[in-house]
Amino acid sequence: MGDAITELARRLATTHPDAPARTLARRLVAETGGAITLNQARLRIARQFGVHGKQNRRNVKAAATREPRKAGAVIEMPASRAEPWQPHDLGVVGMVGVLSDIHVPYHDEQAVRAAVQYIASEKPAALLLNGDFADFYSISRHEKNPKHRNFKRELEDVRQFLRWVRKQFPHIPIVAKAGNHEERFEKWLWQHAPEISDEPIMGIDNWLGLKDIDITLVADKRIVMAGELPILHGHEKGNGISSPVNQARGAFLRLHHTVLEGHGHRTSTHSEPDMFGRETVCFSTGCLCDLRPAYAVLNKWNHGAALVHVNKNGEFDVRNFRIANGKVRTS
Ligand SMILES: [Fe+2]
Ligand SMILES: [Fe+2]
Repeated sequence: MGDAITELARRLATTHPDAPARTLARRLVAETGGAITLNQARLRIARQFGVHGKQNRRNVKAAATREPRKAGAVIEMPASRAEPWQPHDLGVVGMVGVLSDIHVPYHDEQAVRAAVQYIASEKPAALLLNGDFADFYSISRHEKNPKHRNFKRELEDVRQFLRWVRKQFPHIPIVAKAGNHEERFEKWLWQHAPEISDEPIMGIDNWLGLKDIDITLVADKRIVMAGELPILHGHEKGNGISSPVNQARGAFLRLHHTVLEGHGHRTSTHSEPDMFGRETVCFSTGCLCDLRPAYAVLNKWNHGAALVHVNKNGEFDVRNFRIANGKVRTS
């Protein structure tokens, strides 16, 4: 019986390592049909947890280990380590210019100039660089032509471009959202300098000198709000429904919410009313980069950008314009 009781105590300790010792001892008494006293049972359970005095600890190996704790102590739920994920509100009323997918240094100078001039003529209250403003070709994980690999020069080109943008819009808030191409920088750091990758000095905002030119970086795939209009780069949704026919419809099927996004390099709009006649409208903006990059010479991309007018009550109007041969096309 002695061995059988030890075996029973071992089973109780290993299958319920977090249960209070007193509870397990009571159960041991019950399961042995009262063959041992509660005090004996407590000793046996304690032995299984290795908390039964120094002398015995040397001779008997514990079946289960746990932190020593007071009788009746309860196990608390661990504090969550999840970080809050909040949208970034542009907080402006009036015109907001949205430039997406510029991919410096593979930008299209003529298209960028046309978009910037058109937006500037509308006296915007804020400007959003909606992701992929930098290409970061050199640190991509895709195959790269060694001829074009010069990360230092690429960084300098992006810095120069951002300084140029600041000059075009000297007095308004400028927000730069990190797209999948800017995220290459962080991934590259994780790979090549993991020990110091989370130091603030290593941040992309620091490398691009954003503080000096007063440009705010929005990272972590956060949504940018222009009034009540949520703006995404487009990579936040992960891989899933991609719509080869109409990107805006793909966004609608995925989000079921009005949204404006870039990333697909194509201008498109999709609207659908619900049964109460409330309309959901999704927009995708064109790009401002070279339309014939070596990795996708044939594609369906077009140049374009957007203007969003935000009213005091948060309502908005979107002008999702295309650019053809350096000319803005609004219809
Ligand atoms: Fe892009
Ligand atoms: Fe993108």
